[in-house]
Amino acid sequence: MLRGNFPLERFRDLRTPFYYYDTPLLKRTLETVRKQLRDRPSWQVHYAVKANANPGVLSLIAEAGLGADCVSGGEIQAALDAGFPATGIVYAGVGKADWEIRLGLEQQIQRFNVESEAELEVIAALAAKMGKTAPVSLRVNPDIGAHTHAGITTGLAENKFGIYHGSLEPVIRRALELEHVRFLGLHFHIGSQILDMSDFAALCNRINDIRRTLERHRLPTGDINVGGGLGIEYAHPNHLPLADFESYFGTFKRLLPAHVPVHFELGRSLVAPCGSLISRVLYVKEGLSRKFAVLDAGMNDLVRPAMYHASHRIENLSSDGPEQAYDVVGPICESSDVFGKDVMLSECRRGDLIAIRSAGAYGESMASCYNSRPLPGSIFE
Ligand code: LLP
Repeated sequence: MLRGNFPLERFRDLRTPFYYYDTPLLKRTLETVRKQLRDRPSWQVHYAVKANANPGVLSLIAEAGLGADCVSGGEIQAALDAGFPATGIVYAGVGKADWEIRLGLEQQIQRFNVESEAELEVIAALAAKMGKTAPVSLRVNPDIGAHTHAGITTGLAENKFGIYHGSLEPVIRRALELEHVRFLGLHFHIGSQILDMSDFAALCNRINDIRRTLERHRLPTGDINVGGGLGIEYAHPNHLPLADFESYFGTFKRLLPAHVPVHFELGRSLVAPCGSLISRVLYVKEGLSRKFAVLDAGMNDLVRPAMYHASHRIENLSSDGPEQAYDVVGPICESSDVFGKDVMLSECRRGDLIAIRSAGAYGESMASCYNSRPLPGSIFE
């Protein structure tokens, strides 16, 4: 039996919980992105590996010809292993360790997105020692807010990321002066799960202002990296399985100069819709005033609801019975181990298969062994 897009026969004997990835949907998403950029051959999307570093997911994305956006030496290695060319790898992060910088230099990645002047000096010194030149973009903190969860905004002056836009000029001058550094452009990222395109429009306007000021001061501006952040519709995974790439890329096409190469670092919008966390009901339990469906998946398998109060659609794949309200919880010894409260589900019984939808981004990649539980497995359609 196939329920929705889920091959229930295949699930029957598998140990839960596990992540299920809908490969055709991922391919359709990647194809949609490719089509959007057909008229901008110099624009490049780097997949944000942090969203999902499952080797199967990585190799499908590498095959589609995207670059990779990495934030650690481990991610650089995973991207290379999955077949991303080093020339498509960009490397960001406020705290790059020396071994990670050396790995990037050895592998000749496309560039380092540098987050402070102190980091620039260290990269220059390590490159000099290795007889190399480090390609760098400077990450700018544009002081632009985003209408999203406070834990995932990154572009405000109060956030730890990047070089404040007003302090950029001396750092560019220093980058130009350093013999073992090549200045390539400016990097930005304002936050994640952004659905309001006016946030991206505000980013474009700020980028244009910054570039104009630099040009007036006769400084090079290089190319532009706008980061990631496009959100998805968590409430409607069946009706709206694709992020709104048209409005997203359309905003940048409308507001950024067409002749300048633009880089994107999309994570969530590429992989969230194609992943579901599949688990089983262990117990149905009547509380004093609420009914609990206790799953064998917990916050260690998918931490987003506990960490950001994120809401994922939850479905009972095993029953068409009348719906009832459940608090859907995991087995972890924490009160925050809750996937949803008052969730309407077809009547649950022990053993029913439950899908927690849109979990392809920041699901498996943030899983942990908390409570000494094994990491969730994964299967692909
Ligand atoms: N580029 C940079 C510099 C980033 O920091 C991020 C995400 C991205 C790109 C990709 O952003 P996306 O397109 O996925 O929004 N764990 C949180 C999300 C953290 C995002 C961190 N940075 C969550 O589960 O919602």
